[in-house]
Amino acid sequence: MTSGAGRPARWWSSDEGKAAARRLGLGESARVALSMGVIYQVYPRSFQDTTGNGVGDLPGITSRLDYLSDTLGVDTVWISPFYPSPMADFGYDITDHCDVDPLFGTLGDFDRLVAACHDRGLRLIIDWVPNDTSDQHPWFQASRSSRDDPKRDWYVWADPKGDGSLPNNWLSVFGGPAWEWDGATGQYYLHSFLASQADLNWRNREVRAAMFDTLRFWLDRGVDGFRIDVAHFIMKDPKMRDNPPAAPLDERMFKSLGEYDSQEHVNDKGHPDVHGVFRDLRALLDSYPGDRFAVGEIHIFDWAEWAAYYGDDDELHMPFNFSLVWAPWEATTFRERIDALDRVVPSWAWPNQVLGNHDEARIVGRIGPDAARVAAVLLLTLRGTPTLYYGDELGMPQVEIPPDQEQDPWGIRVPGQGRDGCRTPMQWTPGAGAGFTTAGRPWLPLTAEAHRLNVAAELSDPGSMLNLYRRLLALRASEPALSHGGYEVMRDAPDGVMAYLRTGEEGDFAILLNFTTEPVLVELERGGMVAVSTDPERDGAPVGSSFELRPDEGVVIRLD
Ligand code: NOJ
Repeated sequence: MTSGAGRPARWWSSDEGKAAARRLGLGESARVALSMGVIYQVYPRSFQDTTGNGVGDLPGITSRLDYLSDTLGVDTVWISPFYPSPMADFGYDITDHCDVDPLFGTLGDFDRLVAACHDRGLRLIIDWVPNDTSDQHPWFQASRSSRDDPKRDWYVWADPKGDGSLPNNWLSVFGGPAWEWDGATGQYYLHSFLASQADLNWRNREVRAAMFDTLRFWLDRGVDGFRIDVAHFIMKDPKMRDNPPAAPLDERMFKSLGEYDSQEHVNDKGHPDVHGVFRDLRALLDSYPGDRFAVGEIHIFDWAEWAAYYGDDDELHMPFNFSLVWAPWEATTFRERIDALDRVVPSWAWPNQVLGNHDEARIVGRIGPDAARVAAVLLLTLRGTPTLYYGDELGMPQVEIPPDQEQDPWGIRVPGQGRDGCRTPMQWTPGAGAGFTTAGRPWLPLTAEAHRLNVAAELSDPGSMLNLYRRLLALRASEPALSHGGYEVMRDAPDGVMAYLRTGEEGDFAILLNFTTEPVLVELERGGMVAVSTDPERDGAPVGSSFELRPDEGVVIRLD
């Protein structure tokens, strides 16, 4: 066997798997990425509450691992931050990188989570937030205590301009200038996000060493890798020059961030020196036994610059690909974006696909429940690692949060940017609290459809979104063509349809996705059998030389 058919993702870590990756012309980054299989993101506040306070916690995640490994069938769990934090940005504002906030549990709970994942063959990756710390972090407290403090240079401090104005024109992603005045020491400090999230100075070698120690802390506890928060932000222009103005954003094609989009962000992030940091980080990961993985959150839409984060097979295993998240739901746009990424991902590297996360409106909210089913087929059959966002497998909608109940600091500062609507609690069972909590009121409201869209109800409905995900994941796990086979776009597909082939020694598949609400006839060179359709009644149906796609239908056809 050369391809790993029916083997778990971890097979790629075996000697046989390593040899297979080499034969496929894949580099180490790709092999390690493949060994992570399908990734599932858990937002810990919203997955499972075990203490009855309305907020999810680490023991809650542990208690739901059977769902992830057996019921759903994913391979790697990524958990968003659980570190001690004042929770100004719900845990992305960290006061101690090497501990667990009591809200989420203890280090002992974390160790039990790692062990429970590994017992089930799941891998566990955690968020690592290198760009900034909470202003309550002891490092920042020291840094702001005096200009002479040894940690002063650990953060980015700057004098006002001669006329007393801000050091430069840099903006915070969360609205307003990126500079906060510190009256006590008479300088500004930089914050790319909230004023209570001060940017670390990665040009300072002690910062680098201290932050790399935080990686070692978790690697030593057995984590399989990291999702690196705003990875490209950590290196800025050393001369701190102004950003130039930007051309107007095409808001149909990209999500608008308001005032932040008025600048070309060439100086406040993404300085080429960032690559040296990631080469060092990769060397650190590689020095550990087993496969340790790094995926970067990188919102760069110049694809060549984005692909540079793979380095020379010596930086990140993958930069997250956000190209599809805000693409309008049109076959041509999706095909163009997928083609564009295909052109820049090196042949030895591994692509990846993302349709949602804790920062973006839910896929169902963006394109509607029927199209979201087609999108599930796309996500799980394209070439590359899929990352699933908790609850999307249930078809959870984007929840309207009334302005007076808004929790997200971004939404509070910049109307319209709130992210609470995609962070509502996971829905496990019908009834009060949806099996998420026994508290009368969870930290964010449940969706109005929690009685219908929940794991228990959906498991017993063959046509549910959950069963669609399960069928797709099972097929992907057993078919090498779908996990790591060839990919070829069928360019003669009719308007409104995206079609492609996935090929491999053990069999080929055609994937046909109808982006429209009309039936469309697709001609095929070979017939076969429907392996999975968004319409489960079609599963197993024979396919001839043409196939009529129903409105909003996606099918995976096993070719003869
Ligand atoms: C990126 C994270 O994904 C987001 O949730 C967070 O608000 C920002 N980093 C700032 O910390």
